[in-house]
Amino acid sequence: MNSSEEKTMHDTHKFELIYSQDKIARRIKELGKQISKDYKDKEPILVGVLKGCILFFADLIREISVPIELEFVNASSYNGGIDPDEDVIMSSGPKISLTGRHILLVEGIVDSGHTAVEIIKKIKLEEPASVEMVSLLNKPECRKMPVKVKYIGFEAEDHFLIGYGLDQGQKYRNLPFIGRVLNSNK
Ligand code: IMP
Ligand code: MG
Repeated sequence: MNSSEEKTMHDTHKFELIYSQDKIARRIKELGKQISKDYKDKEPILVGVLKGCILFFADLIREISVPIELEFVNASSYNGGIDPDEDVIMSSGPKISLTGRHILLVEGIVDSGHTAVEIIKKIKLEEPASVEMVSLLNKPECRKMPVKVKYIGFEAEDHFLIGYGLDQGQKYRNLPFIGRVLNSNK
């Protein structure tokens, strides 16, 4: 930890920098290129999992050069997503039909896999042509349920990460980098 870079917010919140803004942007460019290649002529629907996906989603779609449509699902669990055995509550706004379409689920982070499994199960009820997933972060050590994440930004260690859309108690989503909370004097 001695060699790691520290970031602060309001001088009172301290973070260890894990993925810088530049590093995230570079990786998203690569993901966008790969996705554009794989979905050439497929006109996929990108389904973002709110709220964690917001910054990743906005940046990723601007790196995709094929026609796409957008949709969102809202997923949350009773205790804020710490216990993977808790029920995942899904709600979504006005929806376009997913039947026969190529679906790419967009997540900020996959941890136990519980959220992804529930959402994919619901999407499959609509009989899409295909369902794949892209996640900026993947925590393979934390997996409790098998989930295939086709496109992964970074393989992260078993640390609780914040920033760039990811929260701790709904805070820190607006940080432009991804890090770990070192302290927070509220
Ligand atoms: P799951 O365990 O894969 O179902 O993830 C549960 C929820 O916790 C998801 O909404 C994730 O976005 C969130 N989550 C998992 N790990 C982290 C983390 O390190 N930081 C912030 N949110 C997380
Ligand atoms: Mg959360």
